[in-house]
Amino acid sequence: MQKAMERRRRCGNSLAAVALALVAAMLPSGEAKLSPDYYRSTCPDVEATVRAVVAKKVKETFVTVPATLRLFFHDCFVEGCDASVIIASRDNDAEKDAPDNVSLAGDGFDTVVRAKAEVEKECPGVVSCADILAIAARDVVAMSSGPHWDVELGRLDGLVSKAGSVAGRLPGPDMRVGDLAALFARHNLTTLDMVALSGAHTVGFSHCTRFTGRLYRHGAVGDGDGARTVDPSYDPAYTRQLMEACPPDVGATIAVDMDPVTPTAFDNAYYGNLARGMGLFTSDQALYSDGASRPAVRDFAENQTRFFEAFKDAMVKLGRVGVKTGRDGEIRRDCTAFNK
Ligand code: HEM
Ligand SMILES: *[C@@H]1O[C@H](CO)[C@@H](O)[C@H](O)[C@H]1NC(C)=O
Ligand SMILES: *[C@@H]1O[C@H](CO)[C@@H](O)[C@H](O)[C@H]1NC(C)=O
Ligand SMILES: *[C@@H]1O[C@H](CO)[C@@H](O)[C@H](O)[C@H]1NC(C)=O
Repeated sequence: MQKAMERRRRCGNSLAAVALALVAAMLPSGEAKLSPDYYRSTCPDVEATVRAVVAKKVKETFVTVPATLRLFFHDCFVEGCDASVIIASRDNDAEKDAPDNVSLAGDGFDTVVRAKAEVEKECPGVVSCADILAIAARDVVAMSSGPHWDVELGRLDGLVSKAGSVAGRLPGPDMRVGDLAALFARHNLTTLDMVALSGAHTVGFSHCTRFTGRLYRHGAVGDGDGARTVDPSYDPAYTRQLMEACPPDVGATIAVDMDPVTPTAFDNAYYGNLARGMGLFTSDQALYSDGASRPAVRDFAENQTRFFEAFKDAMVKLGRVGVKTGRDGEIRRDCTAFNK
């Protein structure tokens, strides 16, 4: 109780908050000054508070880990890292309603909403939902034995969330390295960053429908009845395992582990899998079959430390994409709705 009151006093320094907001408003948009210390005076315990909520949620369900990590990626790639993906829509026309949301698991949204509720108790109106998502994405990786890094803070929440903004911005599971690299390059992320970030597929699930084309309709043209073969780049034992989990007429409900070797550990097994024909999607396997990305895959498969270093760097870069400042953003009170 005493501690809570003390915290409130420290956080409730509204003069400091106003001063910060003024400084932010004076910066030209696109020149966000992100810093790990951003909330040092206005909400000093924010990271511990978020971590406690994330830890509790991960204990309830492991899906929290992949769901939160993927939510961050999708948020940053559409309109920038501004929590636009979290906006709930009235008419199914917000980002999260786009067909490309490809079944973002609800546990990622829930993690941010719960963490925001706790943070608001300590420092009302100070911490953005975009920053809470960035902290939570960092925490879930560390909590599944992955690396830990200093997360940069100071993003504002965006004022726009449209389903129409999603098309063409997110990578698809049937894409080749050239097209994938082009999508990442739009955000100044290199092929190396892309290979490292794809290592996120070391945790989490995919619905059968995202890859059954490789099992049953490889080489088929469109929806036609053409070829009925297995993608030859799949390992035969892995093919049998996937066919068993995902029969040809499987509905949209069944999902499989994306890393069948160590599904709940954030490790470098994903890259070893690729070298053995166990990349789940065409986009995963392509990272090994294409000479532009294979050296990085080999390197990360051989040395987990190097994967972790590259992943940390790439996550920090991802977190800088399209950050909002000044009049382009706000600190949302409710992460699922714009302030007015
Ligand atoms: C390189 C291009 C990428 C493609 C084509 C891709 C595609 C996909 C697809 C199709 C799924 C399965 C969704 C489902 O069926 O529910 C998936 C899951 C996932 N992706 Fe990616 N992804 C890519 C990059 C990334 C990046 C950069 C991250 C994060 C840094 C990421 C994190 C995840 C996670 C954690 C899951 C599991 C989600 C869950 O279990 O709820 N992906 N991805
Ligand atoms: C994703 O989009 C589909 C329709 O494209 C929608 O039915 C579903 O509710 C959306 N998922 C989330 C988590 O918003
Ligand atoms: C990418 O980098 C270039 C040059 O370093 C810079 O001018 C540009 O603003 C950056 N773009 C983004 C989206 O960060
Ligand atoms: C892995 O890479 C790191 C950093 O480059 C290096 O210090 C370490 O010795 C490597 N480990 C092995 C087993 O090669």
